[in-house]
Amino acid sequence: MEFIQDPKDSDLNEVHAIEQENEVELWSIKNFKDSISVKHFFKIFFLNETIVGFIVARLIPHDCEILNIGVTKSVRKKQVASKLMDALIGECHNKNIKHIFLEVRTSNIPAISLYKKFYFNEIGVRPNYYLTKKGHEDAIIMGRDLP
Ligand SMILES: CC(C)(COP(=O)(O)OP(=O)(O)OC[C@H]1O[C@@H](n2cnc3c(N)ncnc32)[C@H](O)[C@@H]1OP(=O)(O)O)[C@@H](O)C(=O)NCCC(=O)NCCS
Repeated sequence: MEFIQDPKDSDLNEVHAIEQENEVELWSIKNFKDSISVKHFFKIFFLNETIVGFIVARLIPHDCEILNIGVTKSVRKKQVASKLMDALIGECHNKNIKHIFLEVRTSNIPAISLYKKFYFNEIGVRPNYYLTKKGHEDAIIMGRDLP
């Protein structure tokens, strides 16, 4: 059984555990809590009563910025992120938002491939934007218009 819903504060330890599976620039539990407080678009994906993915985005009039998305390693490449992206794009349509954008590390091929699948294009680069273990890495800014 799978479904997508809004998170409660009590879900955030599980969400944070997914975030911690990544080695780079992690959100704290407080970052997730703040997203609930300021009413970001924040959805969690349940699979058999376990949280396996999440998406957080800032919706402002006409624009949407994807702030974070993550799927637990054991269920990656099974369309969880795609379903979360569908939920976000549906909400953007409902709110008459016309543009979505995000920043992603140049080395993050899975995420870049996900966004390309959803018709995002590269619209800019922020040189040396992210810290890495070896130094710095560029951010690619990706975006797409919505009809
Ligand atoms: C990026 C991420 C969210 C994708 O989640 P996912 O549930 O595995 O993605 P999906 O199964 O919905 O895949 C959708 C598309 O993404 C691409 N994709 C996903 N994983 C990929 C991989 N390892 N290599 C290449 N392309 C990949 C494919 O194009 C795929 O399309 P397809 O199913 O038609 O082949 C996941 O890898 C993740 O949590 N990564 C760590 C966190 C992260 O990097 N977040 C993004 C920050 S900008």
